[in-house]
Amino acid sequence: MADKIINNLMEDLKDIKNKNELMNIKSKYIGKKGLVSILMQEIKNLPVEEKKIRGSEVNMIKKEVENLIDSNLKRIESEEINLKLKEQEIDVSLPGKLNSLGSVHPISQILDEIIDIFEGYGFQITEGPEVENDYYNFESLNIPKDHPARDMQDTFYLENNNLLRTHTSPMQIRIMEKNSPPIKIISPGKVFRCDSDITHTPMFHQVEGLLVDEGVSFANLKSILNRFCYDFFGKKIKTRFRPSYFPFTEPSAELDIEWKNKKDETKWMEVLGCGIVNPKVFEFVKYDTSKYTGFAFGMGIERLAMIKLGITDIRYFYQNDLKFLKQF
Ligand code: PHE
Repeated sequence: MADKIINNLMEDLKDIKNKNELMNIKSKYIGKKGLVSILMQEIKNLPVEEKKIRGSEVNMIKKEVENLIDSNLKRIESEEINLKLKEQEIDVSLPGKLNSLGSVHPISQILDEIIDIFEGYGFQITEGPEVENDYYNFESLNIPKDHPARDMQDTFYLENNNLLRTHTSPMQIRIMEKNSPPIKIISPGKVFRCDSDITHTPMFHQVEGLLVDEGVSFANLKSILNRFCYDFFGKKIKTRFRPSYFPFTEPSAELDIEWKNKKDETKWMEVLGCGIVNPKVFEFVKYDTSKYTGFAFGMGIERLAMIKLGITDIRYFYQNDLKFLKQF
């Protein structure tokens, strides 16, 4: 009888797949109304001499059944864990997803280079407000009320007599108001004009330069700017100073640089305005015009960048096309 029960049990256990099925089998054999339990109950009806033999036989069967159920429980549990682990398997050797790295914008790179060069010449770096007022942007720079630069078509006017600075020259006044000579500064930053074509954008960058001391001459200005071009372009580049007019410098000039356009034609490109500080400007900041002279310049960074990097349309800088930006 024992063999029969155990064989049946083993047969039952053969293809169980989960704990639930196992528990059903457990109660079929040793549950309250299970086969083995019924055998146990029947013992009490047997004659005394058989009770003992039958009792130990049924006990052995029960033990055996419990052992088998137990070992099968362990098997199923470990199978279940293994299955779970397999489903959740992570391949730690797979390469990760990389964040793509940004790079410094070409205009910022060029600005940094220019600042480095002038720092090397002993210039101090200063920065000032992009929202200016009429006094600093025009009046104190000797730009009269009827000057075309004041035209609405060139200047972005704001409320309360404010405007977006059209050049970095207001920084000349701000610096001189607060300091006495000698002055030797550059001031990089954004400037704004209502203008847009292949060489103009409504916002662009300038670096203003101002040097004031005793005995400063146009020769000093020329030599600094020529030296700058040499250091910036890293080779002898052709420059030309062309007479020009700015109300805040006298005499005034523009510096042109030779470059090649798309069709490989040699052209001159204006990159900066400059000149000897007009004594009228010194009067606004109460500098002694009999003692001090100075020079000033304002260079267009986008222009310099176009020549140095070989870019033919200024608008590329501000379209944020990654294919363009990633080249630098
Ligand atoms: N501010 C002038 C411009 O934006 C440039 C300039 C600066 C000219 C300093 C002379 C001296 O065109």
